[in-house]
Amino acid sequence: MSAPDLRRAAAARALELVEPGMRLGIGTGSTANAFVELLGERVRAGLDLVGVPTSEATHAAATRAGIRLATLEEVPELDLTIDGADEVDDRLRLIKGGGAALLREKIVAFASRRMVVIADAAKRVETLGAFPLPIEVNPFGLAATRRAVEAAILRAGCVGEVALRRTAEGAPLLTDGGHHILDARLGRIPDPESLSTALWAVPGVVEHGLFLGIASAAILAADVDGTAEVTVLGSLD
Ligand code: A5P
Repeated sequence: MSAPDLRRAAAARALELVEPGMRLGIGTGSTANAFVELLGERVRAGLDLVGVPTSEATHAAATRAGIRLATLEEVPELDLTIDGADEVDDRLRLIKGGGAALLREKIVAFASRRMVVIADAAKRVETLGAFPLPIEVNPFGLAATRRAVEAAILRAGCVGEVALRRTAEGAPLLTDGGHHILDARLGRIPDPESLSTALWAVPGVVEHGLFLGIASAAILAADVDGTAEVTVLGSLD
């Protein structure tokens, strides 16, 4: 099975959780896009709900799919958020932000009663950290913030390089919120909670891509003999 097939299988299982009238957070990335497409089909068939997108890209995709959207100002409490992840461990701790949408993703997930992750089972890891950890920072004082981030990483028992994320044209990437992203290549993060606390203590850090205690379940799709086998970590109730 191809990666798009697996993403679609995870998204299809998540769609079963969606009920009429729901206030739904809608994630960002290729797996979330697969969910948007399937959700759009249900909406066009008559399902009524309101979605809150986690990025400008998802806003555009959901609008194209015909999904009614609102902001968190209009709908500050959500029933469910469905989003992808870059890594997930067995305690449902995540790394997110590969698509640079981590700040809005975390705000939306935190405003939701439940967050369910959808992903290719290859995203499941024993220890977080092989995927570079995205850290969203204010452009002001970037060099000073970067040094403080490097020191915080060392204090949290991690080792690795920190790189400013750039666009294909070489310019520093700007997030939807007008911030930059530092990617920390750490290999492994032995204590994500300590790293989270250490990063939050740096004034220029707006948010980081460790999602700890936020997801209540993960729907993971794997290729088993040519068919998509879906595994659920956590509870979908
Ligand atoms: C976006 O900022 C990310 O958090 C995505 O949710 C994550 O990168 C997963 O994306 P894919 O579904 O494209 O792998």
